Amino acid sequence: MGATGVVGETIVRVLEERALPIERVGAFASRARSGAVRFRGESLDVEPATTESLRNFDVVFFAGGEDASEAFVPALAARGAVVIDNSATFRMRDGVPLIVPEVNPDDIHVEHRLFPVGNCTAIILCTALAPVRDAAGLRCVRVATYQAISGAGRAALEEFDRAEGPIVRNVVPKIGSFGDDGESGEEQKVRDESRKMLGLPNLDVVATCVRVPVRTAHAEAVFFETERETSVKALAAAFERAPSIVFHNEGIVTPRDVEGTDEVHVARLRALRPEPTREFALWCVGDQLRKGAATNAVQILELLVERGVVS
Ligand SMILES: NC(=O)c1ccc[n+]([C@@H]2O[C@H](COP(=O)([O-])OP(=O)(O)OC[C@H]3O[C@@H](n4cnc5c(N)ncnc54)[C@H](OP(=O)(O)O)[C@@H]3O)[C@@H](O)[C@H]2O)c1
Repeated sequence: MGATGVVGETIVRVLEERALPIERVGAFASRARSGAVRFRGESLDVEPATTESLRNFDVVFFAGGEDASEAFVPALAARGAVVIDNSATFRMRDGVPLIVPEVNPDDIHVEHRLFPVGNCTAIILCTALAPVRDAAGLRCVRVATYQAISGAGRAALEEFDRAEGPIVRNVVPKIGSFGDDGESGEEQKVRDESRKMLGLPNLDVVATCVRVPVRTAHAEAVFFETERETSVKALAAAFERAPSIVFHNEGIVTPRDVEGTDEVHVARLRALRPEPTREFALWCVGDQLRKGAATNAVQILELLVERGVVS
């Protein structure tokens, strides 16, 4: 659902790459297009989404925005379909898990059918911080983000490619609208969803989220405080062990380096006080269309297959 958008298109690519037992795929959007989606060498027609057209699938990925999720998700989940939803609609609802397989796989319970995929910036942040949480605890996170244009969808990307819009030769410190407290919608999502995904409801998180003129992959400058004193060496060892992290002991990594990959890259890890200490900084980068959205969505399905929830 949303197969013609930047996330939907990436979900189709990731499904092609992985060895899931898929019998049939359907492609849906707000309007029909003939042969507009390619899957394993075949052209699929895109159909307009209706409750009727979506009902004959065991698993439905949503990448169509809040309206579409509100309209279709509750009925599908109620009749037992597994729904994996990239919109923000249900992420913070009590009793609904917000799964990043490397961070909180055990939050899945047998009765769950609805699986929102967290905010892309928060997924990249939490994937990078989970090894820190596990090695030394986490008390406080300050993050400044450098977010790619494709994070705002296909229309924004096309505008950028035409060299139009406020982001050309610019950086814009406003993603979503500002609340009464001056925090943007994106900054609020990063705080609330990171707490939920990391399982640390009292974690002190503050973000400043900034759109930058990069096509794909979000970067984040992270300053954090651990619960217990530790060292760069111990944290580096934790990153080296983490399966979905590429740790750069030296040098830098940029959005262009990681476009099209599934890992979160961590670089520039440094202690901010003499060691052992609780204060550190790092730089992390991830393809937000993949690990921040499509790959994470497909990994959730893989977990469900592994656990026998989907056959
Ligand atoms: N872009 C990212 O990096 C990113 C990362 C994480 C999560 N997300 C979330 O993923 C979702 C999709 O984002 P996107 O960036 O891929 O957007 P996009 O490029 O604008 O694509 C939106 C897709 O949804 C379809 N759609 C929109 N409204 C619909 C409706 N009411 N009924 C049926 N189909 C509808 C569109 O179909 P038509 O073309 O036919 O209108 C299109 O296929 C959003 O909820 C977004 O917040 C995005």
